[in-house]
Amino acid sequence: MKVQIDPERCQGHGRCYDLSPDLFTEDDEGYGQVAGDGVVPAGGERAARVAASNCPEKAIVLVEE
Ligand code: F3S
Repeated sequence: MKVQIDPERCQGHGRCYDLSPDLFTEDDEGYGQVAGDGVVPAGGERAARVAASNCPEKAIVLVEE
């Protein structure tokens, strides 16, 4: 699985990097960014789904591989 953030949708609510800091970080203005290459490590799928389901803008995309 990979995570992506749709920059057109992200409004900087910050729940992604608060809830799942291993997968997401923030830019200088508080908008969410994918940490690293976005590949979800083994065991990280739940954190990815929690972040995605808690983003009010539905900006987080989970890509099943
Ligand atoms: Fe943006 Fe959603 Fe995170 S609005 S900062 S992707 S919780």
